[in-house]
Amino acid sequence: MSQIASPKTHYLKDYQPPAYLIDRVELSFRLDEQSTQVHSVLHLRRNPQGPGGPLRLDGEGLNTLELRLDGRPLVPGEYGMEDGQLSIEQVPQRCRLESRVEINPAANTALEGLYLSSGLFCTQCEAEGFRRISWFIDRPDVMACYRVRIEAERQRYPVLLSNGNPIEQGELAGGRHYAVWDDPFPKPCYLFALVAGDLSHIEASHQTPSGRRVRLRIYSEAENIARCQHAMDSLIKAMLWDERTYGRECDLDVYNIVAVNDFNMGAMENKGLNIFNAKFVLASPESATDADFQAVEGVIAHEYFHNWSGNRVTCRDWFQLSLKEGFTVFRDQEFSADMNSRGVKRIEDVRLLRTHQFAEDAGPMAHPVRPESYVEINNFYTLTVYEKGAELVRMQALLLGPERFRQATDLYFQRHDGQAVTIDDFVACMAEVSGRDLGQFKRWYAQAGTPEVRVEAAYEPQARRYRLRLSQDRQPPLHIPLVLGLLGPEGEELLAEGSRLLELTEASQEFVFEQIARPPLISLNRGFSAPVKIRLDYSDEQLGRLMAQDSDGFNRWDAAQTLSQRLLLGLVAEAAAGRQGAIPAAFIQGLADNLADQATDPALLAETLSLPSEGYLAEQMECVDVDGIHQARERLRQHIGSQLHGPLLALYERCGGSAGADLSPQAMGRRQLRNLTLGYLMASQTPEALALCLRQFEQADNMTERLAALALLAASDAPQRSEALEQFQRHWQGDALVMDKWFGVQASASRPETLQQVRRLMRHPAFSLRNPNRVRALISTFCNANPVCFHAADGSGYAFCREQVLALDGLNPQVAARLVRALVRWRRYPEPRRGLMQRQLQQILAQPGLSGDVHELVSKGLG
Ligand code: TRP
Ligand code: ZN
Repeated sequence: MSQIASPKTHYLKDYQPPAYLIDRVELSFRLDEQSTQVHSVLHLRRNPQGPGGPLRLDGEGLNTLELRLDGRPLVPGEYGMEDGQLSIEQVPQRCRLESRVEINPAANTALEGLYLSSGLFCTQCEAEGFRRISWFIDRPDVMACYRVRIEAERQRYPVLLSNGNPIEQGELAGGRHYAVWDDPFPKPCYLFALVAGDLSHIEASHQTPSGRRVRLRIYSEAENIARCQHAMDSLIKAMLWDERTYGRECDLDVYNIVAVNDFNMGAMENKGLNIFNAKFVLASPESATDADFQAVEGVIAHEYFHNWSGNRVTCRDWFQLSLKEGFTVFRDQEFSADMNSRGVKRIEDVRLLRTHQFAEDAGPMAHPVRPESYVEINNFYTLTVYEKGAELVRMQALLLGPERFRQATDLYFQRHDGQAVTIDDFVACMAEVSGRDLGQFKRWYAQAGTPEVRVEAAYEPQARRYRLRLSQDRQPPLHIPLVLGLLGPEGEELLAEGSRLLELTEASQEFVFEQIARPPLISLNRGFSAPVKIRLDYSDEQLGRLMAQDSDGFNRWDAAQTLSQRLLLGLVAEAAAGRQGAIPAAFIQGLADNLADQATDPALLAETLSLPSEGYLAEQMECVDVDGIHQARERLRQHIGSQLHGPLLALYERCGGSAGADLSPQAMGRRQLRNLTLGYLMASQTPEALALCLRQFEQADNMTERLAALALLAASDAPQRSEALEQFQRHWQGDALVMDKWFGVQASASRPETLQQVRRLMRHPAFSLRNPNRVRALISTFCNANPVCFHAADGSGYAFCREQVLALDGLNPQVAARLVRALVRWRRYPEPRRGLMQRQLQQILAQPGLSGDVHELVSKGLG
């Protein structure tokens, strides 16, 4: 447990190279649930570029049995051990340090280091988990070659895996056996991995352009092995894509992926042995939704892409986390865009960024993409580092253009292969290849917060001139690339080239366009070229034109969202003033036109017809009116459902009839559209709608449609509600991932008894606080995806959150720290909520023995 003896702040400016380097490591594991012995031999050498001083190794929770330096046992007095560090003063230039430690995987509930998951031994070392396995210099700029021997009971642990290539295996006395793995690539210890257990696998093979045959295997528990094929297909697609798009091929003989049930995050890119949350490996049409299938494809690709952006070229220190994460997210986003619908993918990514990253950037945990300081690095695996970091790479790709960007990434991978580098090294490659000065651009990495760009425009008819003034609120100003189009009255592009890239580099800057024959309608930040808020006062009529005519699909969608947002926030304001705002007929007519549209890609149409989420609307309010937002949105949904009942029904029927196993973008889009129309119909509360919903629930041949129907029933007061939930449970009780969905739909229902129900579900036999997926499905869903219940005015939701944070903190601080974030934005809510939230945070902070993870977030949240 990361109990805080002294919460130490780490600063980027204090970086020093390591005093010692480790060239080679020999590890030997004698696996046992309660008492695993780890023997390690480190081949060390003093770093000629290092600062000198003693040899310091990191270790946490290790029972040290033996230490030897060059074969000689170290006696107390020759070394010091305190605050998780082993220091040895007198160490030769080159030496061999041997250690033997004992650890207890069965007692490891933090899921960091070596732990047990459903009877399987597995590891998670990023960021600083390796120090819970053995004494080591646990930092990413210490890269070593590993040879690993694993010994375990044969019966229960027939499969023994580590990084690299299997080079030896054999039987031992007493029903035990062993395997030896050798990884030829030097790597930081955060990429070390070990797995041992009773696993099945599927296998495939991939030949790279240079002729290397890579053996691909995906391991899972035997009962899930039939659900691994989609992950394998995705892996091969990702390999081909990286060869084509970045000229990067797989450097391994063996590439293994293992699905585990207990995992703190999504997945981990350990060299040659990726370990995955089962949620991002297993998928079959009966048990997984289309969104699950796409998430599997995306995460499989993400971890594979890390093999170059992260593993071959790694991070010098954890301040550079976005070097690998921002770049790899950009790579996986582009991969998914190429595999599916590019337009829809961009909308989904921007929606995530604007709803959650913008919120983070406006709250007490706001930090730059490259933070300057941290207490607990696990708290910095954030939307800012990942998603905003990806946007910064995207902007550089835009500024360079596709060819130059490719040359720059080639240079980056070639120049820094085998090195641990910084974000400056990455940007330097972009600058060098393009011949551009990116000095100002780099401020993006150092400034927290979302920039705002204000737009003022004037058209001079006589001179046929259009003047555009853009101003930004950032100090010093950022380099902001904004893609612009100018639309004529018929929607025609007025600029010869269609779109133009404007580079805003000053606090306020004027752009002049000549030969503009007619007053233009501006379409700015096309494709969401920069992660900024654009302040531009369009009329409803102008938004309608953009929606209908803009050649940029993203901005068409965005105009629709802005219109709905404007209407909804208007309704909220009216209701707050005691009035019932009007829903304009023109708005409903606009939706009707869309419902009749048979030309547009169905997934894109579904995005256009979706209302902004309650969370996104909350983000737009200075002071959040939780109930007002919910009521306005529900009222509008009901209005749409009844006013457009006929057209919705027609579209619903039109979208039916595709086989659940058809995973083409077209079929997935139709299901998405079908579920969306069903949602509006259910909002109308007609008996026909309920009948449709029940029919869909009972007859769907795929989880996408079945779950959507169940979620609507679970959120309703329909008499069939509990029977549907009961039936679903009976059918899926043996399936953990599907049971997560069952917990989730109940936790997100905005009904008065939901909190009580959530508490009851915590006593369900399938629930456990020790399993992060279950905690996220039930508790995190309640706290983050059910605003009305979480923010109940009596504070019951907040108290529940505090209770669970404290219960989890003793087991798994990383999961507790994720959960506590639900409370940290208390300042945005009006009394009494604000005070109630603040009090829960104070109570958490007062808890003795709080983990460093939760302590950092709560104290920053209160501070
Ligand atoms: N590097 C992983 C990824 O983004 C993230 C990760 C997996 C992680 N497990 C973790 C980070 C545990 C911190 C702790 O692909
Ligand atoms: Zn990653």
